[in-house]
Order: sequence, then C-alpha cells, then structure tokens
Amino acid sequence: MIHVAELIQRKRDGEELPVGDVAELVLAYARDEVPDYQMAAFCMAVFFRGLSGAETFALTDAMIRSGETIDLRAELGRKVVDKHSTGGVGDKTSLAVGPIVAACGVPFGKMSGRGLGHTGGTLDKLESIPGFRVELSHQDFVAQVREVGLAIIGQTANLVPADKRLYALRDVTATVDNVSLIAASIMSKKLAGGAEAIVLDVKVGDGAFMKTLEDARELAETMRELGRRAGREVVCVLTDMDQPLGCAVGNALEVREAVHTLRGEGPPDLTELALASAAHLLALSDLAVDESEARARAEQAVDEGTALQAYERWIRAQGGDPDEAALPTAPVVREVRAEHGGYVSRIGAVRVGVAALRLGAGRATKEATIDHAVGVVCRRKRTDRVEAGDVLAEVHARDDTGAATAAAEVLAAYEVGDGAPVERPIVLEVIA
Ligand code: URA
Repeated sequence: MIHVAELIQRKRDGEELPVGDVAELVLAYARDEVPDYQMAAFCMAVFFRGLSGAETFALTDAMIRSGETIDLRAELGRKVVDKHSTGGVGDKTSLAVGPIVAACGVPFGKMSGRGLGHTGGTLDKLESIPGFRVELSHQDFVAQVREVGLAIIGQTANLVPADKRLYALRDVTATVDNVSLIAASIMSKKLAGGAEAIVLDVKVGDGAFMKTLEDARELAETMRELGRRAGREVVCVLTDMDQPLGCAVGNALEVREAVHTLRGEGPPDLTELALASAAHLLALSDLAVDESEARARAEQAVDEGTALQAYERWIRAQGGDPDEAALPTAPVVREVRAEHGGYVSRIGAVRVGVAALRLGAGRATKEATIDHAVGVVCRRKRTDRVEAGDVLAEVHARDDTGAATAAAEVLAAYEVGDGAPVERPIVLEVIA
C-alpha cells in the first residue's frame, strides 16, 4: 500500500519514483481513495520537479487503465488514424481534416472535448449546427465510422476517468501547464481511443500552452515517446498560434469557415494546415501512399468536391443540417477599423480569444452556456498592408454594448507597424 504523503515529499525533493507507486497513486485517486488536496499537492510537486520518461508513461498507462479502452481495429477491421490539437484560438482544423480524410477512403473516428477557456472546443463548434448530436452510443459511433467513414463524438464517460478528474483538479490548482502532465493527459485519451497512428498538432505561441518552439518540441517529443512505448505511430506538427488560426473565432463562424475551406475558399493558413494534417494522416493510414501522393489526394478531394460531400454526409448522419444558411447568426455585426496605415505586424491571439469569450463564444466556468452565433472575424492577418479606416476585423455580438467592448479589445489586439513583417509559415516544424 502506498503512503501518499511520503510520495508527495519524495517528488517535492526531486526523487524519481518507482513506476508502480505512480500507477497505484493514480488508480487509487480514480477510485476516490486519495483526496483532492493530496493529489493537488502531488501535481504541484510534479509541476516543479517534472517526471522522468518512465514515470510519465506509468501515469499515462494507469490513467488508461482507470476506465474502458476501445479497439477500433478489431471493430472496423481497418487501421484507424486520429488527430489531436493542443488547442488554440480559431482552431477548427478537425472539421476540415475529417471530411478530407474520409473522402480519401480512410475511416476517421474521433472523440473530442469541449472547451474551457477562450472559445468552444470541437464539440461546441459542432453543436452550433442545428440538430447535430454529439452523443452517440459506442455501437452507433462504430457503425457510423464504418458506413459514413466519419464520426466525431463526445468522449464517453468511462474513457480515461482518471484524466477527467485530474484535469479538472489541475485546472483549478495552477498545474495544467507542465509538459509531462499535458503529454500524459492528451496521450492517455488518444491511446485509450484506439487509434494506431496519431497526428498531433502542437500549437506554439501567444495563444497556446507552449509559448516557445523549444517548449513545443519538448512536449512533442514527450508525446511521441509515450506513443512509441505504447506501440503507436505519432507524427507531430508544430504550428503557429501567435495569431488566430484562419479568420473566424467563435463556434458557428468557425463551422462556416471550415465549410469554405472544404470548398477550396478558406483562408490560406487554415487551408495549408488542413491539407498538411490530412496528408500526414493519409500517409500513416493503410492506403500505403507516400507523403507526396497523400498530399495530392487531399488536394484532389477538395478540388473535386468529394471532401464537401463527405462533410454533408457526416453532418446528416449525426442529425445536423449541413446547409450553411442553417447556422445561427448574431444580430449585431460591428466593423473594427485601422486607426492608421501600415502592415499588420501582430494579432494577439489571446486578446482576440478573450474578446470572443466575453461575447459568449466560450465558457468562463464549466457550467456556462455558449452563444454559438457570436465571435470575431479577423479580416486582415499578419503581414497584410492596410490603410487608415480599412476594416481589420468584424465583431459578431448579441447586443451593441457587447459589440463595443469587444471591438475595443480586438482593436487593441492588432498591431500595425511601418515595416513589412517577415512571413511566418503556419507549419513551423514536423517531427516524424
Ligand atoms: N489538453 C488536455 O487534454 N490535457 C491537458 O493537460 C492539456 C490540454
């Protein structure tokens, strides 16, 4: 039997713990035999002292064993690929990647989360589509992936319950942003969800957990190592989150932008990221194609309209109306205009995210409800040339007061300078 206070002390003092003790601690916490205050103290000790590779794997493995696991290969008879993003402002990539991959004949079954923070998570975005159901039974989920080729649903209650509790605890004890804890949390869900090959989009910059390329590399390497130990293939793409991804920030606005991207009319950064992620997934799939053939197929699916058709089939299968006109719209749209001319040198992702959150696009507390219609659309992006009075962005709001506050915040997020800033690609690095 473990002595929890002693484990906390040993970790506090920088010791590497026996993997069996780490596993026992997590499983005992999941069984409610360890109180939150001790687990919080343990997380804080880990925050300062870190975990070794072996300890991180023991934590991940124990979290997986705290609940059920899914074997999609056994149920579908196919190699299943999955993608995950560490999260950022305006990140609607999965909504475009899923249909592209499905249109290329590779099954895409994904369990996703809701957002706490600036804007909604993938499930919240999908719920802005009238009628769309995010809760499917396990059988219906598998049947839809088999028949339609694509399903995105909420994580089932019994998948990695230890992470659910631990993540909620970390969220309120300032212990989220530690590489080992983030890696274990993300990878436990991906591994339990049954994908054999995983593409991880690790965001870097102002609007991400990882502020520097160096930290993002460390997180990527830690997650790849967890995948390797579990016998799964993992490719990490390190991508820019120093400005919002694409233009739209806010649930229905983001769904609309994902649909435009599937039509080949999306913003360049989102289009590139969706195609690059889809190509990595296809190259890891059982299609047996190399990266360049995978990229060609992804582009073809968009050009020929099969990706958009896959989107429409998917949304209908989950009860939703795929017609763009069915998406909710906000009653007040206010333009944000440049005060002087120059080049957009910066759009603070966090500031735009906070503006969207205050409009109601995200949740400040777990219980808060989301307003699917509201948000921000960044009409100009970094390196764009603007003249005084040009529209930089639009604020979509419920009322005039909300619009005025958000417009001021969005204007403050934009920096317009004299010199043309250096272009920064959306994909900064690939670790394969
Ligand atoms: N996303 C997760 O699922 N877990 C973390 O710890 C951080 C981001």
